[in-house]
Amino acid sequence: MGAKRRFKVWRGDEAGGDLKDYEVEVNEGEVVLDVIHRLQATQTPDLACRWNCKAGKCGSCSMEINGTPRLGCMTRMSTFAEDETVTVTPLRTFPVIRDLVTDVSFNYEKARQTPAFAPPKDLAPGDYRMQQVDVERSQEFRKCIECFLCQNTCHVVRDHEENKRAFAGPRYFIRAAELDMHPLDAQEDRKEYAQASMGMGYCNITKCCTEVCPEHIKITDNAIIPMKERVVDRRYDPLVWLGRKIFRR
Ligand code: SF4
Ligand code: F3S
Ligand code: FES
Repeated sequence: MGAKRRFKVWRGDEAGGDLKDYEVEVNEGEVVLDVIHRLQATQTPDLACRWNCKAGKCGSCSMEINGTPRLGCMTRMSTFAEDETVTVTPLRTFPVIRDLVTDVSFNYEKARQTPAFAPPKDLAPGDYRMQQVDVERSQEFRKCIECFLCQNTCHVVRDHEENKRAFAGPRYFIRAAELDMHPLDAQEDRKEYAQASMGMGYCNITKCCTEVCPEHIKITDNAIIPMKERVVDRRYDPLVWLGRKIFRR
Protein backbone atom coordinates (compact mmCIF):
# COMPACT_ATOMS: atom_id res chain seq x y z
CA MET A 1 0.00 0.00 0.00
CA GLY A 2 1.56 3.29 -1.12
CA ALA A 3 1.38 6.70 0.49
CA LYS A 4 -1.37 9.20 -0.26
CA ARG A 5 -0.21 12.19 -2.30
CA ARG A 6 -1.96 15.43 -3.23
CA PHE A 7 -2.74 16.22 -6.86
CA LYS A 8 -4.38 19.07 -8.71
CA VAL A 9 -5.63 18.19 -12.18
CA TRP A 10 -7.16 20.60 -14.66
CA ARG A 11 -10.66 19.52 -15.61
CA GLY A 12 -12.70 21.18 -18.29
CA ASP A 13 -13.16 21.69 -22.01
CA GLU A 14 -13.00 24.46 -24.61
CA ALA A 15 -15.64 26.41 -22.70
CA GLY A 16 -13.41 26.63 -19.60
CA GLY A 17 -12.35 24.64 -16.57
CA ASP A 18 -10.58 24.58 -13.25
CA LEU A 19 -8.03 22.74 -11.14
CA LYS A 20 -9.63 19.96 -9.10
CA ASP A 21 -8.05 18.50 -5.96
CA TYR A 22 -7.42 14.79 -5.52
CA GLU A 23 -5.74 12.59 -2.97
CA VAL A 24 -4.40 9.45 -4.48
CA GLU A 25 -2.21 6.51 -3.59
CA VAL A 26 1.27 6.50 -5.08
CA ASN A 27 3.59 3.47 -5.02
CA GLU A 28 7.34 3.30 -5.30
CA GLY A 29 8.68 3.61 -8.83
CA GLU A 30 5.49 5.08 -10.28
CA VAL A 31 5.29 7.85 -12.84
CA VAL A 32 2.71 10.64 -13.16
CA LEU A 33 0.81 8.69 -15.84
CA ASP A 34 0.37 5.78 -13.37
CA VAL A 35 -1.29 8.21 -10.99
CA ILE A 36 -3.58 9.55 -13.72
CA HIS A 37 -4.57 5.95 -14.49
CA ARG A 38 -5.25 5.28 -10.80
CA LEU A 39 -7.43 8.38 -10.66
CA GLN A 40 -9.37 7.09 -13.67
CA ALA A 41 -9.72 3.65 -12.09
CA THR A 42 -10.74 4.76 -8.62
CA GLN A 43 -12.11 8.30 -8.50
CA THR A 44 -12.86 9.91 -11.80
CA PRO A 45 -13.40 7.52 -14.73
CA ASP A 46 -14.20 10.37 -17.11
CA LEU A 47 -10.79 12.08 -16.75
CA ALA A 48 -9.52 12.44 -20.34
CA CYS A 49 -5.83 11.85 -21.02
CA ARG A 50 -3.98 10.80 -24.18
CA TRP A 51 -1.36 8.05 -23.92
CA ASN A 52 -0.26 4.96 -25.72
CA CYS A 53 3.14 3.36 -25.13
CA LYS A 54 3.99 4.24 -21.52
CA ALA A 55 7.60 3.99 -22.58
CA GLY A 56 8.49 7.51 -23.73
CA LYS A 57 8.27 6.56 -27.40
CA CYS A 58 4.84 7.44 -28.78
CA GLY A 59 4.82 11.10 -27.81
CA SER A 60 1.14 11.01 -26.76
CA CYS A 61 1.21 11.74 -23.03
CA SER A 62 2.55 15.31 -23.23
CA MET A 63 1.22 17.46 -20.39
CA GLU A 64 2.42 20.20 -18.05
CA ILE A 65 3.49 19.02 -14.63
CA ASN A 66 4.01 21.76 -12.06
CA GLY A 67 4.14 24.15 -15.02
CA THR A 68 6.85 22.28 -16.95
CA PRO A 69 6.04 20.56 -20.25
CA ARG A 70 6.87 16.85 -19.80
CA LEU A 71 5.87 13.32 -20.75
CA GLY A 72 3.58 11.92 -18.04
CA CYS A 73 4.97 8.42 -18.54
CA MET A 74 8.59 9.52 -18.07
CA THR A 75 8.12 11.74 -15.03
CA ARG A 76 8.78 9.76 -11.89
CA MET A 77 6.84 10.67 -8.78
CA SER A 78 10.16 10.55 -6.91
CA THR A 79 11.02 13.82 -8.75
CA PHE A 80 8.74 15.62 -6.28
CA ALA A 81 8.94 16.03 -2.53
CA GLU A 82 6.49 13.78 -0.67
CA ASP A 83 4.53 16.70 0.73
CA GLU A 84 4.46 18.56 -2.61
CA THR A 85 1.17 18.96 -4.44
CA VAL A 86 1.64 17.86 -8.05
CA THR A 87 -0.29 19.99 -10.51
CA VAL A 88 -1.13 18.54 -13.92
CA THR A 89 -2.48 20.75 -16.69
CA PRO A 90 -2.94 20.38 -20.47
CA LEU A 91 -0.41 21.79 -22.95
CA ARG A 92 -0.96 25.54 -22.94
CA THR A 93 -0.18 26.33 -26.57
CA PHE A 94 -2.87 24.14 -28.11
CA PRO A 95 -6.66 24.33 -27.73
CA VAL A 96 -8.12 22.07 -25.04
CA ILE A 97 -10.50 19.35 -26.18
CA ARG A 98 -11.11 17.95 -22.70
CA ASP A 99 -9.12 17.75 -19.46
CA LEU A 100 -5.53 16.85 -20.42
CA VAL A 101 -6.27 16.28 -24.11
CA THR A 102 -5.43 19.09 -26.51
CA ASP A 103 -5.95 19.57 -30.22
CA VAL A 104 -2.43 19.39 -31.67
CA SER A 105 -3.49 19.72 -35.31
CA PHE A 106 -1.43 22.95 -35.59
CA ASN A 107 1.58 20.63 -35.79
CA TYR A 108 0.11 18.44 -38.51
CA GLU A 109 -0.66 21.52 -40.57
CA LYS A 110 2.97 22.63 -40.25
CA ALA A 111 4.10 19.13 -41.22
CA ARG A 112 1.96 19.27 -44.35
CA GLN A 113 3.33 22.68 -45.27
CA THR A 114 6.95 21.49 -45.09
CA PRO A 115 7.99 20.53 -48.64
CA ALA A 116 8.63 16.77 -48.75
CA PHE A 117 11.94 15.11 -49.59
CA ALA A 118 12.33 14.82 -53.35
CA PRO A 119 15.39 13.22 -54.96
CA PRO A 120 16.70 14.51 -58.31
CA LYS A 121 14.27 13.51 -61.09
CA ASP A 122 16.92 11.86 -63.27
CA LEU A 123 18.24 9.61 -60.50
CA ALA A 124 17.39 5.95 -61.14
CA PRO A 125 16.94 3.51 -58.24
CA GLY A 126 20.32 2.12 -57.21
CA ASP A 127 22.31 4.95 -58.83
CA TYR A 128 23.32 6.47 -55.55
CA ARG A 129 24.83 4.72 -52.58
CA MET A 130 24.25 6.45 -49.23
CA GLN A 131 27.42 6.83 -47.21
CA GLN A 132 27.26 6.02 -43.51
CA VAL A 133 28.47 9.52 -42.69
CA ASP A 134 25.44 10.98 -44.49
CA VAL A 135 23.11 8.70 -42.56
CA GLU A 136 24.67 9.68 -39.26
CA ARG A 137 24.68 13.42 -39.83
CA SER A 138 20.95 13.77 -39.34
CA GLN A 139 20.37 10.68 -37.19
CA GLU A 140 19.78 12.80 -34.10
CA PHE A 141 16.79 14.55 -35.69
CA ARG A 142 15.14 11.28 -36.65
CA LYS A 143 14.83 10.39 -32.96
CA CYS A 144 11.94 12.87 -32.69
CA ILE A 145 8.83 11.18 -31.22
CA GLU A 146 6.53 14.10 -32.12
CA CYS A 147 5.50 14.79 -28.55
CA PHE A 148 5.29 18.51 -29.47
CA LEU A 149 6.69 19.56 -26.11
CA CYS A 150 9.13 21.81 -27.97
CA GLN A 151 6.30 23.36 -29.99
CA ASN A 152 4.31 23.88 -26.79
CA THR A 153 7.13 25.52 -24.89
CA CYS A 154 8.42 27.94 -27.53
CA HIS A 155 7.51 31.46 -26.42
CA VAL A 156 6.97 32.57 -30.03
CA VAL A 157 3.63 30.75 -30.08
CA ARG A 158 3.02 29.85 -26.41
CA ASP A 159 1.02 32.97 -25.64
CA HIS A 160 0.88 34.37 -29.15
CA GLU A 161 -1.87 32.85 -31.21
CA GLU A 162 -1.18 35.55 -33.81
CA ASN A 163 2.28 34.08 -34.57
CA LYS A 164 1.03 30.58 -35.30
CA ARG A 165 0.26 31.22 -38.94
CA ALA A 166 3.81 32.31 -39.78
CA PHE A 167 5.85 30.11 -37.42
CA ALA A 168 6.46 26.42 -38.04
CA GLY A 169 8.24 25.82 -34.73
CA PRO A 170 11.30 23.90 -33.55
CA ARG A 171 10.02 20.44 -34.48
CA TYR A 172 9.83 21.53 -38.12
CA PHE A 173 13.13 23.39 -38.01
CA ILE A 174 14.80 20.06 -37.22
CA ARG A 175 12.89 18.51 -40.11
CA ALA A 176 14.21 21.25 -42.41
CA ALA A 177 17.74 20.75 -41.07
CA GLU A 178 17.46 16.98 -41.55
CA LEU A 179 16.43 17.43 -45.18
CA ASP A 180 19.09 20.09 -45.68
CA MET A 181 21.72 17.53 -44.62
CA HIS A 182 20.40 14.87 -46.99
CA PRO A 183 22.77 14.55 -49.96
CA LEU A 184 19.91 13.84 -52.39
CA ASP A 185 17.38 16.43 -51.31
CA ALA A 186 16.75 18.38 -54.48
CA GLN A 187 13.94 20.49 -53.11
CA GLU A 188 14.34 24.22 -52.75
CA ASP A 189 17.08 25.68 -50.57
CA ARG A 190 15.98 24.54 -47.12
CA LYS A 191 17.79 27.33 -45.28
CA GLU A 192 16.23 30.05 -47.35
CA TYR A 193 12.87 28.35 -47.11
CA ALA A 194 13.08 28.06 -43.31
CA GLN A 195 13.84 31.74 -43.10
CA ALA A 196 11.35 32.96 -45.68
CA SER A 197 8.41 30.59 -45.18
CA MET A 198 8.77 28.79 -41.84
CA GLY A 199 9.32 31.88 -39.69
CA MET A 200 12.77 30.89 -38.43
CA GLY A 201 13.52 34.60 -38.01
CA TYR A 202 11.07 34.68 -35.07
CA CYS A 203 13.34 32.33 -33.13
CA ASN A 204 15.70 34.25 -30.87
CA ILE A 205 17.53 31.14 -29.69
CA THR A 206 16.11 30.96 -26.19
CA LYS A 207 16.75 27.17 -26.23
CA CYS A 208 13.60 26.37 -24.23
CA CYS A 209 12.72 23.82 -26.93
CA THR A 210 16.01 21.97 -26.37
CA GLU A 211 15.49 21.96 -22.61
CA VAL A 212 12.16 20.12 -22.78
CA CYS A 213 12.96 17.61 -25.54
CA PRO A 214 12.63 14.11 -24.03
CA GLU A 215 14.88 12.71 -26.77
CA HIS A 216 17.61 15.22 -25.86
CA ILE A 217 17.81 16.46 -29.42
CA LYS A 218 20.02 19.55 -29.54
CA ILE A 219 17.37 21.43 -31.48
CA THR A 220 18.89 24.88 -31.11
CA ASP A 221 22.61 24.12 -31.34
CA ASN A 222 22.51 21.45 -34.03
CA ALA A 223 19.58 22.53 -36.21
CA ILE A 224 18.46 26.11 -35.71
CA ILE A 225 21.77 27.90 -35.18
CA PRO A 226 23.57 26.24 -38.16
CA MET A 227 20.57 26.95 -40.40
CA LYS A 228 20.44 30.56 -39.27
CA GLU A 229 24.19 31.12 -39.56
CA ARG A 230 24.38 29.88 -43.08
CA VAL A 231 21.46 32.01 -44.18
CA VAL A 232 23.05 35.07 -42.60
CA ASP A 233 26.43 34.28 -44.21
CA ARG A 234 24.87 33.98 -47.61
CA ARG A 235 22.61 36.95 -47.33
CA TYR A 236 25.14 39.40 -46.05
CA ASP A 237 28.49 38.27 -47.38
CA PRO A 238 28.80 40.00 -50.79
CA LEU A 239 31.39 37.49 -52.03
CA VAL A 240 29.22 34.50 -51.15
CA TRP A 241 26.27 36.26 -52.74
CA LEU A 242 28.25 36.95 -55.95
CA GLY A 243 29.54 33.36 -56.00
CA ARG A 244 26.02 32.01 -55.83
CA LYS A 245 24.90 34.27 -58.64
CA ILE A 246 27.76 33.20 -60.92
CA PHE A 247 27.38 29.48 -60.22
CA ARG A 248 23.67 29.60 -60.79
CA ARG A 249 24.12 30.67 -64.41
FE1 SF4 B 1 9.30 16.17 -28.91
FE2 SF4 B 1 11.93 16.65 -29.12
FE3 SF4 B 1 10.50 15.95 -31.28
FE4 SF4 B 1 10.17 18.37 -30.19
S1 SF4 B 1 12.03 17.60 -31.18
S2 SF4 B 1 8.54 17.00 -30.90
S3 SF4 B 1 10.43 17.91 -28.03
S4 SF4 B 1 10.90 14.71 -29.48
FE1 F3S C 1 11.60 28.85 -29.74
FE2 F3S C 1 13.54 27.08 -29.55
FE3 F3S C 1 13.90 29.28 -30.87
S1 F3S C 1 12.14 27.68 -27.96
S2 F3S C 1 12.68 30.77 -29.80
S3 F3S C 1 12.48 27.70 -31.40
S4 F3S C 1 15.39 28.24 -29.65
FE1 FES D 1 3.95 7.12 -25.06
FE2 FES D 1 4.18 8.60 -22.84
S1 FES D 1 2.62 7.16 -23.33
S2 FES D 1 5.37 8.72 -24.65
